Amino acid sequence: MVNLLNHLFSPIRIKKMEIPNRVVMPPMGTNLGNPDGTVSEANLAYMKRRARGGAGLIITEISAVHPTGMAIPSELGSYEDRFIPGLKKLADVIHGGGSKAALQLHHTGRESLFLLKAGKAIAPSPIRSLVFGMTPREMTREEIQELITAFGAAAFRAKQAGFDAVEVHGAHGYLLTQFLSALSNQRTDEYGGDLNNRSRFIREVLREVRRRVGDEFPVSLRLSAEEFIKGGYTVEDLKPLLPEWVKAGADIIHASLGTHGSPAGITSAPIEYPPGFNVGRAKRIKEIVNVPVIGVGRFTDLSLADQVIGRGEADLVAFGRQFLADPDFVLKSREGRFEDVRKCIACNQGCIERLILGEGNIRCAINPETGQETLYPQGPAAVRRKAWVIGGGPAGLTAAMEAARLGHRVDLFEKEKDWGGQLRYAGKPPFKSVYQEWGEWLGAQAKKMGVTLHPGVEVTEKMIRDGNPEAVILALGGEKIVPDIPGIDLAHVCDAWQILMGEVAPKKHALVIGGGLIGMETADFLSQKGTHVTLVEVLKRSPVLKITSHGYMLHTRLREAGCKLLFDTTVKRVEPSSVTLVSQGTEEVLSPVDQVVVAVGLRPVTSLKKFLEEKGVRHFVVGDAVSPRRIIEATEEGAKAAWSL
Ligand SMILES: Cc1cc2nc3c(=O)[nH]c(=O)nc-3n(C[C@H](O)[C@H](O)[C@H](O)COP(=O)(O)OP(=O)(O)OC[C@H]3O[C@@H](n4cnc5c(N)ncnc54)[C@H](O)[C@@H]3O)c2cc1C
Ligand SMILES: Cc1cc2nc3c(=O)[nH]c(=O)nc-3n(C[C@H](O)[C@H](O)[C@H](O)COP(=O)(O)O)c2cc1C
Repeated sequence: MVNLLNHLFSPIRIKKMEIPNRVVMPPMGTNLGNPDGTVSEANLAYMKRRARGGAGLIITEISAVHPTGMAIPSELGSYEDRFIPGLKKLADVIHGGGSKAALQLHHTGRESLFLLKAGKAIAPSPIRSLVFGMTPREMTREEIQELITAFGAAAFRAKQAGFDAVEVHGAHGYLLTQFLSALSNQRTDEYGGDLNNRSRFIREVLREVRRRVGDEFPVSLRLSAEEFIKGGYTVEDLKPLLPEWVKAGADIIHASLGTHGSPAGITSAPIEYPPGFNVGRAKRIKEIVNVPVIGVGRFTDLSLADQVIGRGEADLVAFGRQFLADPDFVLKSREGRFEDVRKCIACNQGCIERLILGEGNIRCAINPETGQETLYPQGPAAVRRKAWVIGGGPAGLTAAMEAARLGHRVDLFEKEKDWGGQLRYAGKPPFKSVYQEWGEWLGAQAKKMGVTLHPGVEVTEKMIRDGNPEAVILALGGEKIVPDIPGIDLAHVCDAWQILMGEVAPKKHALVIGGGLIGMETADFLSQKGTHVTLVEVLKRSPVLKITSHGYMLHTRLREAGCKLLFDTTVKRVEPSSVTLVSQGTEEVLSPVDQVVVAVGLRPVTSLKKFLEEKGVRHFVVGDAVSPRRIIEATEEGAKAAWSL
């Protein structure tokens, strides 16, 4: 076993908890709990899969210390003794993998849609939720005392359930942050006013937790080291408070960042932020207090974490989404198999944005097992088939890998010489090279798993007839749509794919037709190269949502680059140096335009399906070939087809 990660793989003792290494899996809500807030089989399966991954410390997802503090109705509970048996199973599962276990204690305050809708959300002051825009009720002083007691009682239950530690959730804009921040706390009693008063609630919660769990039981305080919001507090504001919190009971500071209302979803930062970008704040906290500090934020690579610890910038490093993308990444890296690690691409599609947008329970866009551990077939398949997968994009590659893993004999065909399908283009806009790398990773892994690869081969009906596969997965993707506009065949008109691949050089004044992700990213690509871009979109609002992390960054970059986004607008005619636009019945001539870039989307490729139907071959259609969407649908459908072969 290669072990170059000596800093990371050194134990650390915190009170009576001996943590075998410095890798932390931080708390991540899953939505997998039972409707009554008890731990479900899905919770246990999800955690078991991660617990065998080799983290030193696993901190569970949020658990509500009080019924008034649930972010969602099924949030795990720690507010009554009836939760203890399930929590014990969770702690046991974590211990089973060799990690130490901490339960995260949470009160949502005003950031709960269902409580706000029911008029039941409470907060330090009646100030609108940053996330949901509705106003909570101000807490009474009695309620404040009740919640302080509740945090202590929940901590005691965690100890009874066999956890090694608890973490008080003081981050991300939930109740404790709401007390701390002047933006959400305008109380006039001793819990509001100056910073010292606003930090009182956290202090008293910590004291009560400490009182209930005793001196030797470790308590972590998770903080947003900076609120990351206009007028919000910074890490320097915490300087006088941190020693007080340590005195009140915090043995560990977990230095997270931002709130769910901060721009760009900074709490789970998008791809624009480099790995380890937030560690400077952990370092600053270490200069202020002498307790272990956990650094977190876009870590995907153990080597970087090892350096961070070696340089003394943090004592432990948390890898959140990386544990969703590849729960085995620690083991693989320890064995020196860095190239086998499936690296998180920070797309947030299956994880945080899916939860915040209410789209379901946790998933991972690049790892179809995540959140589906109870469905995930271990294999081998009862009947091993000769299977053909046609199309080497994310859907086909995922299907091929999953089918090979289950023991099927798999041939994968791709008409281009390179793997990745649309990922080859998705990796070209600014900051997105990880998409292309992921496509290449999929190709390399498929080969390692024994898939027979056929690059540069376009499958025809004759080939299927001759090859006679028992089952076929059609992952053919989409084909470009060419809009029917006078002048679209002029020489200065090209498409987004040609621009991204460098087949057509950017000019000075470009018009991009289509404001979906491909059009927006092509506009970004062009404007970073100095092109003046105007983008037209027929819809009234941008289909790229600003509330998504990458969407926010994209809109911001385009605005800052002076790119003009025209919604509710169509192109009537393209001329050699101008275009005629129509918006709400009014025509406007845009000039000069020396480049017109078409990005109006794709339509599914439907070839071969009819033939397979007629021939009676078992087949599945997956990914963009069903309808052009995103990578999460491509991988999920690819995997599920392979599971059903
Ligand atoms: C610029 C750009 C940016 C994007 N950014 C994102 C993003 O940030 N997030 C996101 O979720 N999605 C993004 N997408 C969309 C995403 O890439 C697609 O949804 C995804 O690639 C679809 O996967 P797929 O495997 O179904 O199809 P594809 O990726 O299109 O793969 C299909 C493959 O099948 C091959 N093929 C077709 N017919 C045959 C045949 N007869 N024989 C052999 N091979 C054949 C094609 O050559 C192709 O390689 C982006 C797309 C682009 C273009
Ligand atoms: C799906 C998801 C759920 C999360 N839930 C929690 C949570 O319950 N409690 C918490 O303190 N942080 C939560 N976070 C934040 C993570 O703990 C972590 O701080 C963040 O993702 C940044 O780390 P990363 O860049 O390594 O993913 C969540 C993040 C994700 C992606």
